[in-house]
Amino acid sequence: MCGIVGAVAKRNVVPILLQGLQRLEYRGYDSAGLVVVNQAKLERARSTGRVVELTQRSAAITGHLGIAHTRWATHGVPSERNAHPHMSDELIAVVHNGIIENYEELRTDLTAQGYVFTSDTDTEVIAHLVHSFYKKGASLLHATQSSLAKLIGAYAIGVVAANNPEQLICARKGSPLLLGIGENENFIASDMSALLAVTKNVVYLEEGDVAEIGIDTYRVFDAQGKAVQRQMHVSELTNDSVELGEYRHYMLKEIYEQPQALANTLEAVCNSQSLVPGIFGAEAAASFSQIDSILILACGTSHNSGLVARNWLEEIAGIPCNVEIASEYRYRVSVANPKTLVVTISQSGETADTLAALNHAKANGHQHTLAICNVPESAIIRQSKLRFLTRAGPEIGVASTKAFTTQLAGLFLLTLVLAKLRGKLTSKQEQQHLHDLRHLPSAVQAVLNLDTSISKLAEKFANKHHALFLGRGLHYPIALEGALKLKEISYIHAEAYPAGELKHGPLALVDKDMPVIAVAPNDTLLEKLKSNLQEVRARGGELFVFADANTRMQSSDGVSVMQMPEHAGFLSPILHTIPLQLLAYYVALQKGTDVDKPRNLAKSVTVE
Ligand code: M6R
Repeated sequence: MCGIVGAVAKRNVVPILLQGLQRLEYRGYDSAGLVVVNQAKLERARSTGRVVELTQRSAAITGHLGIAHTRWATHGVPSERNAHPHMSDELIAVVHNGIIENYEELRTDLTAQGYVFTSDTDTEVIAHLVHSFYKKGASLLHATQSSLAKLIGAYAIGVVAANNPEQLICARKGSPLLLGIGENENFIASDMSALLAVTKNVVYLEEGDVAEIGIDTYRVFDAQGKAVQRQMHVSELTNDSVELGEYRHYMLKEIYEQPQALANTLEAVCNSQSLVPGIFGAEAAASFSQIDSILILACGTSHNSGLVARNWLEEIAGIPCNVEIASEYRYRVSVANPKTLVVTISQSGETADTLAALNHAKANGHQHTLAICNVPESAIIRQSKLRFLTRAGPEIGVASTKAFTTQLAGLFLLTLVLAKLRGKLTSKQEQQHLHDLRHLPSAVQAVLNLDTSISKLAEKFANKHHALFLGRGLHYPIALEGALKLKEISYIHAEAYPAGELKHGPLALVDKDMPVIAVAPNDTLLEKLKSNLQEVRARGGELFVFADANTRMQSSDGVSVMQMPEHAGFLSPILHTIPLQLLAYYVALQKGTDVDKPRNLAKSVTVE
């Protein structure tokens, strides 16, 4: 989704803004722009191309104060006139992430006051609103605060004025924004990765905060306008973690980072002899002893990890579990059980639907909330009582990979902790699970060795338009995840079914042009799955089977079997995810699509 960078410094800020935008490219965008204040004038460049094109267009622009933006279109088509920053009367410039819901009403009022709109965006109303207060003598800070009072919706904004060369105003509500604190220069960004080249000192703004930033000062005000102190942190993000390094794409890098990401996520647990609730927060033991069920809320890949966890939670911990798509739950009239633990799962921790679902659950009377998330200071983490941080490191590729497998690791730990508290886990079983978890990173590494074989397999998909993924039980969500990966980066229409459902409809689709990918672990459902695969073969469907060792499945005419190195028991979904990630990656390479930034998609979906 959209990205914001801003800077005020004693040096030219244009290279800082452009480098920051480059770092934010992964979030997905369709246009980009920047504005700087130079000799009491606003100088703006915008482009519908990549940031590299904006760099060319801004070659002649310099200034010590500026704001920049990558736009992911919501109101108005991707075009130069709709790209940010938006200006009012060559005096005020604004960048904005989020959606202003009452923009039509505000636009009508502002038009009546004589303002002329030059874009189709909701953002432009903010520029004119700030202008309307500023020209009457309000300071830029007060003009912004008065404008924000009129907005309904979500925003992170940056505001500058042509006649105010050392002041940047910013605010957040519903969209992330942070301050970067440097020496004789200060910054704003929607994501810390944008600022890594200039500072590691970060101040996270809270909901409703407005900040006034100068070259060597900054002040933060809360939603009521009261001056507040917000703690400064030193970001643990490193430049390396957001660089491509030797890899061709971030997605491949992140697939290969999974052994380390899992080791990091499991570090505290694997170094200990027993499982304790405290890994989910200080109040976890008290919360967990009061709950009788689980409700998981998430979107996309994170939702798929929740579907895997439901199987674990019910089978191992014996606790009832429901999994709901956050965007549905938030608007559904549901019956709340105050003894339910609401678990939100999110890589970014800023997904608007998941955040809204969490707040909806709280408003419905749910008090026990746990976030499983990859971003420590994210809104979902801050708004949940309990938390578990996956330590996957920054995930840049739009297709989620290491976030998914580390979420699964966190959810498995939750299962074990609840099982132990509920008397469903013997000490011997606990030790066995801990042993399996310690072995997990090397088991994943062994699956990565299938890379070359999978890249060859992918060639068979180059001319396909559809694909069917099958799995059963614990591995049906892995089929869903495989299909999601394939469709989002290769644009092949892919669907997943529980294999037993095949003959209830989807079998009608199977012919020689419909590749069928089966997740075939060596578990209790294997024989049933084999029968389902016979049904496919009998209709001429070409099969691609990811089977564990000892499944006694062989490649034959129309059947390609890929042997997984081992069967990992309950952790098998984590291992079986890896070949499907690689398959999607190599098929996308065959198709020549933009692997890390697939069309129409954004990394972090911060609008509804
Ligand atoms: O940041 P989140 O985990 O909350 O994001 C949820 C989905 O938008 C995300 O998983 C999406 O489905 C991925 N692009 C899939 O690869």
